[in-house]
Amino acid sequence: MARRQFIAGNWKMNKTPNETVELINALKEKVAGINEVDVLVCPPFTALPKAMDAAAGTDIDVGAQNVHWEESGAFTGEISAPMLTELGVNCAIVGHSERRQYFAETDETVNNRTKAALEGGLHPIVCVGESLEQREADQTTSVVKRQFENGLGNLSADEIQQLTIAYEPVWAIGTGKTATPDQAQEMHACLRSLLEENYGAGIADKVRILYGGSVKSKNAAELLSQQDIDGALVGGASLKPEEFEGIVAAARS
Ligand code: PGA
Repeated sequence: MARRQFIAGNWKMNKTPNETVELINALKEKVAGINEVDVLVCPPFTALPKAMDAAAGTDIDVGAQNVHWEESGAFTGEISAPMLTELGVNCAIVGHSERRQYFAETDETVNNRTKAALEGGLHPIVCVGESLEQREADQTTSVVKRQFENGLGNLSADEIQQLTIAYEPVWAIGTGKTATPDQAQEMHACLRSLLEENYGAGIADKVRILYGGSVKSKNAAELLSQQDIDGALVGGASLKPEEFEGIVAAARS
């Protein structure tokens, strides 16, 4: 079964609400009518209401960059699933390596957030990926396996089909160093076989696995042509309309 390509922009801590509207306006023309690719942008929380308005009626969906596991309560600085879905947001990134690195996110909190997102009606994009140190110590597969088993643990077959996995080697994020198509494909195939072992071939075939880490218009086509790469989670290049357009176009071919 052919999986539909999915290009998601992670804007990180960039763009005010007004700047968000400008960027979506610039992007919407560029991706208009590309029906065979799902296109998502994830601006900061504060820009989500304006982003939803700007993206209404376009081919761009809007997602959040994180979501908390409780619906409400004493969790200063956090945002819950109902706060997002009330805006019409239906997707959230979970467990990004910057959250793991700078904000003490663990496989356990990733798992809690993933479950809450699913229960709250959000489609999570759950990130996994090894650091440079771990790759050099030959631990890539074991790290990604652990993140899969713990971060995506205790999910039903029905739930796992409602999420997307993003393989993002930490050493490739924001560094300009991209994994080679072979390196990326190897880990995507590893994740797909973990899906198969745990949920069967039919489900493994359906779940999309995105690659992230210095994806640009120049390297997108080669990465996206790999058998198990079903799209990209794009940071820096998603803030540049021409670059993002080029990546979406590469997903099409
Ligand atoms: P990058 O970020 O494309 O700037 O490397 C990717 C990500 O963090 O999702």
